[in-house]
Amino acid sequence: MMVTSPRADQSLRVAIFVSGGGTNLQTLIDAAKMGDLGSAKLIKVIASRPGIKAIERAQLAELPVEIIRKNDFADQNAYDQALIHSLKACDIDLIVLAGFLTRLGSRFIAAYKDRIINIHPSLLPEFGGSGFYGLKPHEAVLQAGREVTGATVHLVDETYDTGRILLQKKVKVMPEDTPETLQKRVMREAEQELLPEAVRQIAAGKLLPEITRV
Ligand code: GAR
Repeated sequence: MMVTSPRADQSLRVAIFVSGGGTNLQTLIDAAKMGDLGSAKLIKVIASRPGIKAIERAQLAELPVEIIRKNDFADQNAYDQALIHSLKACDIDLIVLAGFLTRLGSRFIAAYKDRIINIHPSLLPEFGGSGFYGLKPHEAVLQAGREVTGATVHLVDETYDTGRILLQKKVKVMPEDTPETLQKRVMREAEQELLPEAVRQIAAGKLLPEITRV
């Protein structure tokens, strides 16, 4: 799909969706400051609820934040429509789900087909799907006795964690690991490298060549 635009600016305009601590959002903010995102520009943050640390991080970085709560809408379609409206108003090209825990509906996913990516803290397809968020994937990795885990950046489709895998990075599991120590290491060694890398590559037309500006 070619995205035509009257904009003179050839940058890839990115929105980040958050629900929690915003560690991954912070990684993108820091990468943008360092000039490490190529032609990608962070334009806005959408939060699924108020009072989360991710909002503070966005505000500190002077990134506009909009709180859009699913419960404020009559149904999934109305919620999807509100999200689409918010993104269209800012001419967004790419959506990054960075710890975003609210379900997106088919209307939203169709409107931004192949333009939504998610970061997940396991080597998908293992330890993914509904319910695998927060410490859950790490608990499952330890319970299964895995020696290696990691993180995945993937395209978002209509089911949790099943879209095409774009990038993965492995991380060693240590014998003394708890879910908490493992979560921290996966964030530090995998998630914080993969997410800026994915955005940078997409901006360069490498992972999703269909997102090109003319
Ligand atoms: C991250 O570990 C992210 O990979 C995970 O939630 C955490 C959010 O942390 N996402 C999922 O589990 C999605 N299924 P953050 O808000 O501090 O970036």
